[in-house]
Amino acid sequence: MEIDIQGLIRTALDMRKMSYTPYSHFNVGAALLSADGRVYTGCNIENASFTPTNCAERTAFFKAVSEGVMDFTAIAIVGGMQDEEELDYCSPCGVCRQVMSEFCRDEFKVILAKSETEYKIFTLTEILPDRFGPRDLLG
Ligand code: THU
Repeated sequence: MEIDIQGLIRTALDMRKMSYTPYSHFNVGAALLSADGRVYTGCNIENASFTPTNCAERTAFFKAVSEGVMDFTAIAIVGGMQDEEELDYCSPCGVCRQVMSEFCRDEFKVILAKSETEYKIFTLTEILPDRFGPRDLLG
């Protein structure tokens, strides 16, 4: 299936407006494409107690998994300071990479975008080599 990269980035950019970031003011949006063509969105949601903060990527994954969807093709991620005009690339944190590892194949595509036309694509293997995953617990 052809991935509508621009569309995914646009959705992630839109979602970034929903970020709840009174502490860092760093807003992240994500758009996760499932294998059956649906898009699950996520933003980061912070907390006064800091540790409960949830990243945009995990919000998107948990929304999908909570609806029984566990087969994914790609995720678009955009992030930057709230008041910054131009975005730089925002790379997923280690915890989010591990969550991707739980549900995604090696060739899952991670699209980091500054805009609809400026983006880089990595595979999960590239951003999380030698990962520990569900297969390791099969014995
Ligand atoms: N954050 C994300 O949502 N995704 C990332 O890939 C990096 C970090 C959030 C967490 C926190 O709300 C803020 O960005 C600053 O770390």
